[in-house]
Amino acid sequence: MERAASAGDRDAPGGIFDSGLGGVTVLRAVLERLPAENLVYLGDNARVPYGTRSPRTVLAYARSCAARLRQHDIKLLVVACNTVSAVALDMLAVELDIPVLGVIGPGARAGIRASPGGRIGVVATAGTVDSGAYARAIGVEDSRAEAIMEPAPLLVPLAEEGWTDGEVPALVARRYLEPLVAARIDSLVLGCTHYPLLQATLERVLAELSERPVPVIDSAASSPCW
Ligand code: DGL
Repeated sequence: MERAASAGDRDAPGGIFDSGLGGVTVLRAVLERLPAENLVYLGDNARVPYGTRSPRTVLAYARSCAARLRQHDIKLLVVACNTVSAVALDMLAVELDIPVLGVIGPGARAGIRASPGGRIGVVATAGTVDSGAYARAIGVEDSRAEAIMEPAPLLVPLAEEGWTDGEVPALVARRYLEPLVAARIDSLVLGCTHYPLLQATLERVLAELSERPVPVIDSAASSPCW
């Protein structure tokens, strides 16, 4: 669990943003842990997906989301989006005078805890994969563990459409999971806020492909907390 250094005005709301509706999975997890907190959520549905855009564009979008949330006098900012956490978190933390919490560290730690052999599969957006953020976070926590990354961009529009089960999501899931199973992963981190919406399908397909049980980690469930 990642904790903010200072929570400022205790009664002020916390701000959470994501590129779309996927971050509601993080919002729900935070509310379960901190039910008395007042939270303001921003889903940037107008510009989703972030995961296929350049780091520079993602940073520009992240700055505008943060500025919009600051109009609510938020006491801290949770970056629910893995892509923003991967490419823009450090910059936001430098630029804002409130605590800024991301999701990569908590997700990486949960993956390590669930992985007996240290072969942690991570499905994420192309932007998150290209950033190397999960590999770095996993390496910092456990130098013997390895992140095996697979970009899974088509899961984002499926989640946004609410098309989370049936033949098409299962075929897409199979296409992304086959290389990870071939690489003998022993845990799978859902490194994108949208993917937990397809968790049942991903778990079923993974069980079909694997000879042994592979735990699936919803990175939202190990979200930041303060
Ligand atoms: N919310 C993004 C993330 O967690 C995924 C969706 C997108 O591509 O915008 O990485």
